[in-house]
Amino acid sequence: MGAGKSTIGAEVARRLGRPLVSTDALVEEAAGTSIERLFAERGEEAFRALEESHALEALARGRLSVLDLGGGAVLSARTRAALAESAFTVFLDVPVAESWKRVAGSNRPLAREREAFVELHARRVNVYEEVADARAQDADGVVLAAAGAHVEEGSLERLAACVPGDGPVELVVDETVDRLHGARASTALGERLRGRHVVPAGERAKTAAVVERLWSSLRVDRGGTLVALGGGATTDVAGFVAATYLRGIAWVPVPSTLVGQVDAGIGGKVGIDLERGKNLVGAFHWPARAVIDPGLLATLSEAERANGLAEVVKTGLLADAPLWELDPVEQVRRCAAFKAAICLRDPHDRGERAQLNLGHTFAHALEAASGYELAHGRAVALGLVAALRLSGLGELAEETARLLDVRPVRVDREAAWEALQRDKKAVGGEVRLVLLARPGEPRIGVPLPPAEVRAALDALID
Ligand SMILES: NC(=O)c1ccc[n+]([C@@H]2O[C@H](COP(=O)([O-])OP(=O)(O)OC[C@H]3O[C@@H](n4cnc5c(N)ncnc54)[C@H](O)[C@@H]3O)[C@@H](O)[C@H]2O)c1
Repeated sequence: MGAGKSTIGAEVARRLGRPLVSTDALVEEAAGTSIERLFAERGEEAFRALEESHALEALARGRLSVLDLGGGAVLSARTRAALAESAFTVFLDVPVAESWKRVAGSNRPLAREREAFVELHARRVNVYEEVADARAQDADGVVLAAAGAHVEEGSLERLAACVPGDGPVELVVDETVDRLHGARASTALGERLRGRHVVPAGERAKTAAVVERLWSSLRVDRGGTLVALGGGATTDVAGFVAATYLRGIAWVPVPSTLVGQVDAGIGGKVGIDLERGKNLVGAFHWPARAVIDPGLLATLSEAERANGLAEVVKTGLLADAPLWELDPVEQVRRCAAFKAAICLRDPHDRGERAQLNLGHTFAHALEAASGYELAHGRAVALGLVAALRLSGLGELAEETARLLDVRPVRVDREAAWEALQRDKKAVGGEVRLVLLARPGEPRIGVPLPPAEVRAALDALID
């Protein structure tokens, strides 16, 4: 009671694009009266019977939805069994003093006296803990839990507990990150750690040769878990190995860059590069959990931080929230939650997940034309500015350019234009772009006259 389940439930349902089912609303509809009056006229037992039957029915329906379940509903053993069988259950864990403040003075039948309320909470809290698969305080927390992402400063130290199950683990780690954080990761994994595999730092790890070396040296069976510690390159290659080794084993990314924590470590896209292009071989393989420790970012270079900031600004534009202004931990949490929700809605990238490519068509073209000398973050920053200009959001484009310190780059114009037209997302030779109707409202697959796109690209080049 007073934990905010109706508000948070509605927000989670909106973000996941699933219907919200409220047992309280169903009970009121079935009884033809309010819950207060139902309690007063027919007693708590009648209410609980109705609540149980509606909860069981909603859970049996097997339809992907967000179920907003009253605080007393889990006192029913049948409801608890049905939750264990067919739901991912999140305990909205709000301090009792806070929830009392919210419900005091309301008409709720079980919230009339503070002492009784506190006592009821104390009696129920053990049941909540037993039933819950995760706990959270807000909608971001619920979405992250549902996606299996755990954001907590210092979580590297608790890695053995954060990796689901108690089976053996093999660690794949970027060689630079290994020097900085590898020993702590190994110590934290303790007895679960059965093997360590150091891969080249950054993009050089995303090759078939590294994949083959990992396939040959892994020893875990299908009950084992691959843990990947490093930036997006390491988590991409290790995730791909996990997707394919023994036809798929569990894996846990532990992203160590800002790009990794707000983007690459979330959503289950994994893969490697080919000579002729980046990310051309891959799979969808959702991690068993993503362990995100913002403390790992302390050792990141300014250049890598800037790469991440471009993705944070992209996320802020898509979410219509100035996420770049938040403190680092909250920034990571909010960005990760935003991406997690989109990926849960579209896990196989068949529709709206494409919005995450905002600015990326231009970025990829500039990177390719620079022979991959241009930093990805700088390319994304430039791409965002172009996408905003083409969206008709000129003022926002210039604000973004100032925020990300965007300046035109020196690359070959023809090479960039050719690369842009070769973009994977081109349909029948016509380039489709992700634009914004306004912040928070992406438009996917927008065809534009080539001359307009070319002019926007040219404006990015010195
Ligand atoms: N799968 C996805 O959904 C997805 C999304 C975005 C990007 N990506 C991929 O991610 C890759 C880019 O990832 P990235 O930007 O994290 O770069 P990265 O993995 O290439 O790492 C960049 C550099 O940072 C170093 N580094 C990593 N963590 C560090 C730390 N804590 N302290 C100091 N140095 C550290 C690495 O050694 C490397 O030199 C690309 O290959 C891209 O294709 C994948």
